[in-house]
Amino acid sequence: MPLRIGFIGTGGMGQHHIENIRSVIPGAQVTAVNDADESVARAVAQSCGARYIPDPYDLIRSDEVDAVMIASWDPTHEGFSVAAIEEGKYVFCEKPLSDTPEGCLRIMEAEQKAGKRLLQVGFMRRFDADYRELREVIARGDIGIPLVVHAQHRNLAPAGGAKITSDMSATNALVHEFDITRFLIGDDDTYISAQLVAPRSSRFCGDDLIDPQLVYLETKNGVRVELEIFWYCRYGYDIRCEVVGDLGTASLPTPSHTVVRRDGLHASKIVPTWQERFGGAYVTELREWIASVQEGVITGPSAWDGYVASAVAAACRKSRLTGQIVPIELIDCPAFYKKP
Ligand code: NAI
Repeated sequence: MPLRIGFIGTGGMGQHHIENIRSVIPGAQVTAVNDADESVARAVAQSCGARYIPDPYDLIRSDEVDAVMIASWDPTHEGFSVAAIEEGKYVFCEKPLSDTPEGCLRIMEAEQKAGKRLLQVGFMRRFDADYRELREVIARGDIGIPLVVHAQHRNLAPAGGAKITSDMSATNALVHEFDITRFLIGDDDTYISAQLVAPRSSRFCGDDLIDPQLVYLETKNGVRVELEIFWYCRYGYDIRCEVVGDLGTASLPTPSHTVVRRDGLHASKIVPTWQERFGGAYVTELREWIASVQEGVITGPSAWDGYVASAVAAACRKSRLTGQIVPIELIDCPAFYKKP
C-alpha cells in the first residue's frame, strides 16, 4: 500500500515535492493538502488528486494521512512538526526546522517523548551526488585532515520575488552550509563560534537586507569555515565548496554545460535556480525518506541536525547586531540522536 502523505504548504517548494511524488517517486501518494492560500491549495489538490483540508491540524489528524510533509513558511514549522509528532506520525519538515534554536529544542523534546525518531529535516544537499562524492573523498583521507572550508551560496535573486530580511541570510539560506559542512568534515565536529561580517551592500537588495554577508565559523576540532551568502548576485544560482586538507584540497564540481567560444568569449551556462541545480537531490531525498518511513527507521537529517544549524544562525544574528565573535553553546547531543 502506498504511503499516504498530507502536505502543508503548497508554494514553490511544496509544489516541487508534490510533482516529484506524483511523477517519479513510487510508493507514495499525496492524499491531502493544506495552504493558508486556499485557492493555491485547491488548485494543487486538484492537480494531484488529493483532498483539500482547510485546517492544517485536521490534516495532521486525518485517517487518510500516514505521514506529514511541511513546506509552509519558516515560523510555522515548529507548531506543525510538534503536532504531527504528538499524533505519532512521521514528518518531513523543510529547512529550517525552526527559525529559533529554542523551537528546535521543543521539537526534539516532543520526539524524544514519542520514543522513536519520527522527523526528518529537508537538508537535501546530503542527498546530492556531488556532495556525497566530496564527502567520500574526505572520509577516505585523500586530502588528509580537513583544515579549512570555503563555500559560497549565491542566488540570481530570491525565488518569486520573496521578501528577504538580513536575519534570513543565516536562518533560511546558510543553514544549508551549516549542515552540509558537518556532513563533509564529520557530524561530530560541532561549531564553537560564529562571526558575521557585512561588507558594502549591493544596490539591488532593498533596505531590509544586507547583501552579501560573510560568516566565519570555528569548530571544536579547529576547522575554520568561511561562507558567503549573496541573494542578489544577479548572474545565476551558484553553489561552491572547497575543503582544504593537509594533503590537498577537494571541491564540489561546477555543473557542466556545453562550452561556446564566440566573439572573444569562452562561455557556458550557469543554472538560474535551485530546482535545476539540485533537481536530482530532491528526488533522492524523498525516495530515501519514503523507503525509511516504510521500514520504520528514519536515517536522514534529524532534529538534532536542525537544532545545530538554527543555533549557528542565532549566533550569526547576535554577531551581526553586536559586531562580536559569538560563542555557540549547544546542549550535549542526547543519546537519542547519536549516530551509530
Ligand atoms: P512559498 O512562499 O512559495 O510557499 C510557502 C507556502 O506556505 C505559501 O503558499 C503560504 O501560503 C503557505 N503558508 C504560510 N503559512 C502557512 C500556514 N500557517 N499554514 C498553511 N500554509 C501556510 O515558499 P517556498 O519557497 O515554497 O518555501 C517554503 C518552505 O520551504 C520554506 O520554509 C523554505 O525555507 C523551504 N525551502 C527549502 C528549500 C530547500 O532547498 N530545502 C528550497 C526552497 C524552500
